[in-house]
Amino acid sequence: MSKSILILYYSRDGSTKKLAQEIARGVEKGGLIAKLRTVPNITTTIDTIAPPVPKEGDIYVSKDDIKECAGIALGSPTRFGNMAGPMRHFWDSTTDLWFAGALLNKPAAVFTSTGSMHGGQETTLLSMMFPLIHHGAIIVGIPYSEAALSETTTGGTPYGASHVGGSKNDRPISEDEKTLCHALGLRLATLANKLS
Ligand SMILES: Cc1cc2nc3c(=O)[nH]c(=O)nc-3n(C[C@H](O)[C@H](O)[C@H](O)COP(=O)(O)O)c2cc1C
Repeated sequence: MSKSILILYYSRDGSTKKLAQEIARGVEKGGLIAKLRTVPNITTTIDTIAPPVPKEGDIYVSKDDIKECAGIALGSPTRFGNMAGPMRHFWDSTTDLWFAGALLNKPAAVFTSTGSMHGGQETTLLSMMFPLIHHGAIIVGIPYSEAALSETTTGGTPYGASHVGGSKNDRPISEDEKTLCHALGLRLATLANKLS
């Protein structure tokens, strides 16, 4: 079976999904399969159950996706400087995977999209590292050998890939943001190949 990198994201309005797709290009450049998966939305008033398969877009992640991947990229929009509830909700249901060591010694990266430049990208990226560290994954950032990291006037951080969507969340992914997504995906794929 070919090795794959799981790119697991939540995106309400599409920006984080675009970052996920750019990271996938980097993973594929590294010769691995990029498996894009998402998590269902949650609400505070639960009166309906999410359908088992979304009407459109990427399918929901399964426990097997986590077990089978050679590495993982985890993405969420910034919500008050933190990962979004649906992603947090998903990780709260992974005790069995944690006991089984499903992500043990696998490389893991994170990515996010914010409205504003200083609206909490790094704190959100760090918040997604917490469950990954507890699961025993090896956190992979973006090194400053990537020139775009020093040159970007939009998103892109050493802690992970990112995008500044603007107050209307309508800014396209910038060239530097794209370059850094590709670099992160490629780095994940290269490390996954070496580690597994
Ligand atoms: C409830 C809520 C909280 C948010 N909190 C922040 C925030 O703390 N900082 C920020 O810059 N943007 C914040 N935003 C804006 C989103 O992070 C931003 O629009 C992001 O690009 C959306 O990603 P998506 O298109 O993948 O859903 C918030 C949006 C919502 C709905």
